[in-house]
Amino acid sequence: MPPKNQFDQPHIKTVVEPFRIRSVEPITFTTPQQRAEYLANAGYNPFLLHADYVLIDLLTDSGTGAMSSRQWAGMIASDESYAGATSFYKFEASVKDITGFKHVIPTHQGRAAEHILFANTVKKGKVVPSNTHFDTTRANIETTGGEARDLVIAEGRQPQTIHPFKGNIDLDALRHTIETVGVENIPFVMLTVTNNSGGGQPVSMANIRAASELAHSYGLPFILDACRFAENSWFIHLREEGYADKTPIEIAREMFSYADGCTMSAKKDGMANIGGFLALNDDNLALTCRNMLILTEGFPTYGGMAGYDLEAVAIGLYEALDPDYLRYRIRTIEYLGEKLTAAGIPIVRPTGGHALYLDARAMLPHIPVEQYPAWSLNNALYLVGGVRGVEIGSVMFGMQPDGTEKPSAMDLVRLAFPRRVYTQSHVDYLAEILIAINDQKDRVTGHRIVWQAPTLRHFTVRLEPVE
Ligand code: F0G
Repeated sequence: MPPKNQFDQPHIKTVVEPFRIRSVEPITFTTPQQRAEYLANAGYNPFLLHADYVLIDLLTDSGTGAMSSRQWAGMIASDESYAGATSFYKFEASVKDITGFKHVIPTHQGRAAEHILFANTVKKGKVVPSNTHFDTTRANIETTGGEARDLVIAEGRQPQTIHPFKGNIDLDALRHTIETVGVENIPFVMLTVTNNSGGGQPVSMANIRAASELAHSYGLPFILDACRFAENSWFIHLREEGYADKTPIEIAREMFSYADGCTMSAKKDGMANIGGFLALNDDNLALTCRNMLILTEGFPTYGGMAGYDLEAVAIGLYEALDPDYLRYRIRTIEYLGEKLTAAGIPIVRPTGGHALYLDARAMLPHIPVEQYPAWSLNNALYLVGGVRGVEIGSVMFGMQPDGTEKPSAMDLVRLAFPRRVYTQSHVDYLAEILIAINDQKDRVTGHRIVWQAPTLRHFTVRLEPVE
């Protein structure tokens, strides 16, 4: 007879972080006066702040996560051989086991995989449809002369509209694009999971399958931008009928089974600080991409990575698929979202995978769009709480190629969570800071640009507050 546990198991609301912390990194507390000085010296641009002046850094979830003791152990035991290192074969085996793709090409990060793929497939006049291309994907397509076309469903562009899979691609628009542009002008169809630029929103399995079938019915390959494949798998598990009993790895394998290849930044769901890969089924394309890899990244058994990076990714890909981890990860953002919504702070809803997006234009209607409400809110977040997010709005997207200014569709502040780094008390603190700002939002002033670079200005722009 097995022993009996006589207690009713209570329904516990608190989601426990699925790790204990054995190595800690101190963070710096600053005074309000110091923060005012640091921000002014940085030209009111949080990108130009020293990271140790920041208490909670939500600038990005890319490469900023904490690695596990297993990953560190793998890194110590890595093989740094130039050719044929065991660390590469471990990496390749992990990627093949999860994705099922035939060829695995390691790169130093996601954009290198994009560059190699697009340089060999996209030319002037070609169109690459996707739900929403991430900035680097778009830029890598555009530098070849191609067009990156975003076809996310209408709900995906409306911050307040609730939909379980706001990252879905509009299938009618996809068919229309293929018909009007012509099959011969489309190298492949892409899908970004989760849809980062659209609020970290997931794509349903039904949509992935349908987009794949549509592409294949025209003889077109179907490629995933798989940076956050594990988070997308968890949303399918939670929200899509027929997947509640499937594990994240089973769901991930099904997602990849519909694709002919993927680009991947292992700085996200690879749980590593650097790394990425391009994976493909097509033998000929893999051959040309590998040749270019040797030219730009390195020998095919390390690409742009050290042996220890390959180890970290080989182990991290599985850790990203751990249900206990994913429950904590996705719940963290949802928990913050619930607190902010209860306080009347407008956010992109429902909350997505890696980040929470504040709708600054709705929150700060007194700041004209020309004075960058999202940039202003992000600066207030630093001044009040030492927290750094990132503006996804008119500073980032508003400068047109001819130098004129056009406000972007939305003015959002993205609060992206590094993986396994912050605990619930950090999130509670963040909610308190945002509520405190909301209570005195009339004091948030707009900003004007005093200096800017001709492209990608948000990284280096300098501004001043409007009195
Ligand atoms: N695709 C998506 C969807 C991404 O979010 C990113 C990076 C990349 C590709 C490029 O990968 O940085 O390894 O070269 N996103 C980071 C972010 C930078 O902050 O969202 P990378």
